[in-house]
Amino acid sequence: MESKLPNMGTTVFTVMSQLALQYNAVNLGQGFPDFDMSEELVELVDQAMKKGYNQYAHMNGLPLLRERLAEKMRSLYNANINPETDITITPGGTYAIYTALTTVLKPGDEVIVFEPAYDSYIPNIKINGAVPILIHLKFPGYSIPWDEVRSKISVRTKMIMINSPHNPTGSVLTKNDIEQLRQIVTGTNIFILSDEVYEHLIFDKIQHESILRYADLLQRSFVCFSFGKTYHCTGWKLGYCVSSPNLMQEFRSVHQYNCFSCHTPSQVAFAQYLKNEEAYLQLGSFVQRKRDYFQRLMSATPFKPLQSSGSYFQCYSFKGLSEEGDREFAIRLTKEFGVTSIPVSAFYQDEKDDKVIRFCFCKKEETLAKAVERLVRFKV
Ligand SMILES: Cc1ncc(COP(=O)(O)O)c(C=O)c1O
Repeated sequence: MESKLPNMGTTVFTVMSQLALQYNAVNLGQGFPDFDMSEELVELVDQAMKKGYNQYAHMNGLPLLRERLAEKMRSLYNANINPETDITITPGGTYAIYTALTTVLKPGDEVIVFEPAYDSYIPNIKINGAVPILIHLKFPGYSIPWDEVRSKISVRTKMIMINSPHNPTGSVLTKNDIEQLRQIVTGTNIFILSDEVYEHLIFDKIQHESILRYADLLQRSFVCFSFGKTYHCTGWKLGYCVSSPNLMQEFRSVHQYNCFSCHTPSQVAFAQYLKNEEAYLQLGSFVQRKRDYFQRLMSATPFKPLQSSGSYFQCYSFKGLSEEGDREFAIRLTKEFGVTSIPVSAFYQDEKDDKVIRFCFCKKEETLAKAVERLVRFKV
């Protein structure tokens, strides 16, 4: 059979995780917490199951959960979201992104994607017969080169994808970025996909520039979120998409013959747990403490930190420390030093290598300490 996604191979994430296991390395490669999630939330799912919430939920998501999310979005972003028409609960953020792309893309359409990019974007565009138009973020701050974006807009541009806070770099979009985006899309039919799965994982008192703050942009946007990232339960695979009523209606047409509805007991539990505002409001400072702890320990190594203002990730440069490519270097750190990272070239189609590796710091302090104890042995 002719492959619909030729040359995809095995992702570097799988390769690095397998190596981590083989060499008994501390795995700071993949982005997930290694500490326990809220017991109360686990308890709420348990209770929901015992109370009999075990059959199909509403196709668009449990109504009470959508109501609570709309309240949250009003209070955080002053957004006027109608839970009936504007929110759909999905099995994770990645599915929300895939469904949004599938909702709008036709063969030959162009989608502007910034690299380094979360690994699902490009395959999700290609499987729809559309064409990713790749733009490199400006190294080392990983900001968007808006002039280049303007030069790459064509009659075929269907969508621009943004992601803030950003995986893999931890960069965040500013008000000025949103204004640049607005100037580019105003008067066109270009859609926006805003991946905001790390909305609460933002540091140093920076305001998250959610598209939900901008009613004019939300009209043409799909904004994707993940409960897994917010509540330390990435394995639950639950998220949601927010859009304007007309777009959401089309999104739901795709969703209804694919997943149809999501895990009921988790939705019942989240609907209740969302009343606990502290659980998400303190998340940024909780994760920031981990970033700061990791950076403090890492200052005893020769690696140079790049700016991380959000997400689970901190990138380090090893320029001047080795002539190896970042992939080779990350493999050697795993094999010889017992610490696994991800080479950032893996997030570029052309494998652009700035000699940068990504560490996930959303781990227990003891895990981070164990990793850095090993990395301080690295000498040039
Ligand atoms: C940028 C980005 N978007 C989306 C997701 C997916 O979230 P979920 O696990 O809910 O599918 C991730 C997970 O790593 C991510 O890093």
